[in-house]
Amino acid sequence: MHRDVERVLYTEEALKERITELGKRMTADYQGKNPVFIGVLKGSFMFMADLMRTIDLPCEVEFMAVSSYGNKSETTGAVRITQDLDMDIENRHAIIVEDILDSGLTLNYLINYLNGSKPASIEICTLLDKPERRRAQVNPKYTGFTIPDAFVVGYGLDFAQRYRNLPYIGILKPEVYQ
Ligand code: IMP
Repeated sequence: MHRDVERVLYTEEALKERITELGKRMTADYQGKNPVFIGVLKGSFMFMADLMRTIDLPCEVEFMAVSSYGNKSETTGAVRITQDLDMDIENRHAIIVEDILDSGLTLNYLINYLNGSKPASIEICTLLDKPERRRAQVNPKYTGFTIPDAFVVGYGLDFAQRYRNLPYIGILKPEVYQ
């Protein structure tokens, strides 16, 4: 285990098992719909890569990038799109793939923004959800794990751009970010 990690929340095996379940559900739900999966960079890159391997459907993969926490562990509430979609999602079934749902401000903003393109449907798939911290109403259709209010890293999630490469999700020691 990395020395900055207090404890492991989800091992590689636990993540794989849960993501396979999510993929099976989505495969069943989107039969005949050719959905577009939209990963929110950077945090979702690892989740997206593993999730897509469990999806047995004709589908497309897109990425968007939004500004996030910077070097702090608290959100400012400001959301800025730094990389937009390469395609038109009008009349398409869109699924936003996110690493973690915290205040909900990022996804609330993204959903409103993407709804402007008039997709046939739009749903959220988040690997982690911290419902205690919600400030904007967001209802993910697919959630990997509901977690308590702690700062987590690994499996794509960072603190100050570090720890994204850890293969598990762990709670960061508070002394690292305080
Ligand atoms: P929200 O807008 O507050 O829901 O924040 C969502 C974004 O905040 C995520 O995509 C992450 O980039 C970041 N975030 C929130 N909580 C954590 C955490 O515990 N670890 C790492 N990043 C986090």
